[in-house]
Amino acid sequence: MTCVEDLRRVARARVPRMFYEYVDSGSWSESTYRANERDFQQLLLRQSVARDISRRTVATTMLGQPVAMPVALAPTGLTGMQHADGEILAARAARDFGVPFTLSTMSICALEDVAAHTGRHPFWFQLYVMRDRAFIESLIERAKAANCSALQLTLDLPVMGQRHADIRNGLSVPPRPTLRNLLDLALRTRWCLGMLGTRRRSFGNIVGHVKGVDDMASLAAWTNAQFDPSLSWADVEWIKRRWGGPLVLKGILDAEDARRAVDCGADALVVSNHGGRQLDGAPSAIRALPAVAQAVGRGIEVWMDSGVRSGQDVLKARALGARGTMIGRAFLYGLGAFGEAGVTRVLQIIQRELDLTMAFCGRTHIDDVDASVLLAPPAGG
Ligand code: FNR
Repeated sequence: MTCVEDLRRVARARVPRMFYEYVDSGSWSESTYRANERDFQQLLLRQSVARDISRRTVATTMLGQPVAMPVALAPTGLTGMQHADGEILAARAARDFGVPFTLSTMSICALEDVAAHTGRHPFWFQLYVMRDRAFIESLIERAKAANCSALQLTLDLPVMGQRHADIRNGLSVPPRPTLRNLLDLALRTRWCLGMLGTRRRSFGNIVGHVKGVDDMASLAAWTNAQFDPSLSWADVEWIKRRWGGPLVLKGILDAEDARRAVDCGADALVVSNHGGRQLDGAPSAIRALPAVAQAVGRGIEVWMDSGVRSGQDVLKARALGARGTMIGRAFLYGLGAFGEAGVTRVLQIIQRELDLTMAFCGRTHIDDVDASVLLAPPAGG
């Protein structure tokens, strides 16, 4: 397993097709999904030789918290369907490696399950805003009780993007026993055996609130009924007051929105297009990053996600103004391939790639990486 792509191939063989494709797809034509990776590849690095790079470190901080490298695990729904107890395994791998883990509202394992299995090591919780404010308040209280050290509020899913793969696959949690599914599951014995022993097979945080929601059509209908499309900046301020701790706003692509995020008292924002799963046709996150970083200045921390598959990508994001990055699919491939060990392997791969790339660019400390590690595009290019 030498690169993230190796783990993706193993995950593809091991995870039932509907759950694998839930991860490995984007919305509508998938043009934004593809642009996320492509635009990273188009940025060229500037090699710098004969500098003393014998002592190097990629360790830094995110929200003042020490991290082994500027990479956090992004919130991802249904992670417990990539591998039994997936959220617990990923949280443990992140804890042991020294990077933050974010639990999604739409996780399979509940907040309390993850807290119990990580020795109450702090993790972050991601919140979707729903119409039922009493339910939001109860989730915030549960996140506090579970010792979560930051709240990520996702702003780019007021309605759900249409993902063709999920519709075609009849995605459901747990999978429906159709002939096609049974054949598919028969090929994935390791996954099936793991699931037999797992504690949860439905949405742990919102159970009771999602009765009758098991397939993608009912989930989309539930989301559109529950998620609050009237969400405004006033609600963000309300959540900030209610939570009282560090608040991260996720899903910003626009400089004007970024300034609003600063005005709302956010502690960090994430330049993200939800991994190309929401507004197809939006720019890649790496392309949107410089304007947002410039608009925010040094006011709050700017992070990015969407398309990060390697340490080179982390370095490029850093060069364009992202103090931190988050990975979604990259860690999910590791999880689907080898569980906790697979997530650890992905983190090791990315850290090594980051360290070596930094060395080739003649830098010794990740905090010294700036736009000068990139080659300016040729005029008109
Ligand atoms: C996501 N993402 C996401 N974001 C969020 O705020 N809450 C969620 O529940 C989910 N669920 C989810 C499921 C899956 C399968 C994926 C791939 C993504 C978006 C995620 O946090 C992040 O923005 C992207 O994954 C980043 O893009 P890459 O790294 O996957 O390219």
